[in-house]
Amino acid sequence: MNRREAIKLSTIAALGVAVTASAKEAPYMNRMEMTPKDPKKLAPGELKHTPQITLGTKDSKGYTLVEITVGQGGIIHPSTPAHWIDFISLSADGKKVGTSTLEAEISRGTASFSVKLDGVKTLSAKAGCNLHGIWSSSLKV
Ligand SMILES: [Fe+2]
Repeated sequence: MNRREAIKLSTIAALGVAVTASAKEAPYMNRMEMTPKDPKKLAPGELKHTPQITLGTKDSKGYTLVEITVGQGGIIHPSTPAHWIDFISLSADGKKVGTSTLEAEISRGTASFSVKLDGVKTLSAKAGCNLHGIWSSSLKV
């Protein structure tokens, strides 16, 4: 999907949210997999949606805290009734660790997991914006 198509879909999605909100139905959920135009130089809208994976400390049982925040470079994704991050998931070498389901307005796009990283080479996160689709990132461990 190119930038023009993404903007067009966002506009359509925003209209869909307005229509569904007035009809008191479930909001529009964009489930399209999105990719940045240039992964080495993210545009502001891409920074706002790309999950950032941060490793924390390892506990006495061998679980390492993995925190995921949606938004990078000081650009944090909003959380309003019409536009929010509805889920964050984490995988370790392709094996699912977990998924956090997030509600609009009352929660922001952050999640954390405690993970046994023994032998794990890559962590991958996905985040779903109800308007702008599903965004991914990965971290070499
Ligand atoms: Fe968004």
